[in-house]
Amino acid sequence: MLIARTIAELRAAVREARARGRPIGFVPTMGALHEGHLSLVDRARERGAWVVLSIYVNPLQFGPAEDFQRYPRDFEGDCRLAEGRGVECVFAPSDAEMVPLPPAVTVVPRALADCLCGRHRPGHFEGVLTVVAKLFHIVEPDIAVFGQKDFHQSVLVRRMVRDLNFPIEIDVAPILRDSDGLARSSRNRYLGPDDRRAARSLSRALAAVVLAFRGGERRAERLRAEAQRVLASAVGVRTEYVEIVHPETLEAAERAAPEDVCAIAAHLGSARLIDNVILGAPDAGLVRLLVPGAEAAR
Ligand code: PAF
Repeated sequence: MLIARTIAELRAAVREARARGRPIGFVPTMGALHEGHLSLVDRARERGAWVVLSIYVNPLQFGPAEDFQRYPRDFEGDCRLAEGRGVECVFAPSDAEMVPLPPAVTVVPRALADCLCGRHRPGHFEGVLTVVAKLFHIVEPDIAVFGQKDFHQSVLVRRMVRDLNFPIEIDVAPILRDSDGLARSSRNRYLGPDDRRAARSLSRALAAVVLAFRGGERRAERLRAEAQRVLASAVGVRTEYVEIVHPETLEAAERAAPEDVCAIAAHLGSARLIDNVILGAPDAGLVRLLVPGAEAAR
């Protein structure tokens, strides 16, 4: 596996792979890799792609009071995992390589970034889209794989690609969960044992919403109340938002439809966790929570 530290090295490697007829697959990450990231690599490989995985903790997407300094970093561990999963190239640029000057030109999303996470993390998605656009120009992938776990991010990346005509297919992979339902996240490393237990309330809240939806409830307010009830019963969980939105416009639903997404953000100790579910098509890990008694058995 090649480790490219500079844009020039990365471009030369991609050029060579493309000359050999391989489509280029791209998995952008901030490192601290876990099985969720590796499932994105699998998706790119299933398409026969030569896979580039970037590891860059992007300072542009963290607010001043956020966890940029202590964001988990484990470059050697990440490289081992990436190589074990068949990544051909890790792109790990320095700040000087990626953002040599404070940017004078950025990608600024419009109203689509004003809800959900965007409402609570001002400037976050400008930082994300700016760095994703730069990475897209550097890697020039045919396909890029993102996770449904970062639902709001995936919607904005799709819109950026469509609105700004990037010739890239965006694939969004389902959420991967631990056996107790907790969505895999690099930030789960912040959770102590008590918080780890309480963190299950996010997926349980989503399971309660799906059960109510399957039972015929369509009033979004009632469905949201279901989630809030479960979150409120978990010790130490401070709910930031529970919303039910259209999967593309992100408009809040009054009456929920199968394609709508219920999205949650909550704070637990020093961790901010997010999770979501497509009401009519829950991911496999969430479906496991819907089986009566499955949760109690853990
Ligand atoms: O999802 C992430 O890890 C980051 O937001 C991304 C897409 C790598 C941009 O920094």
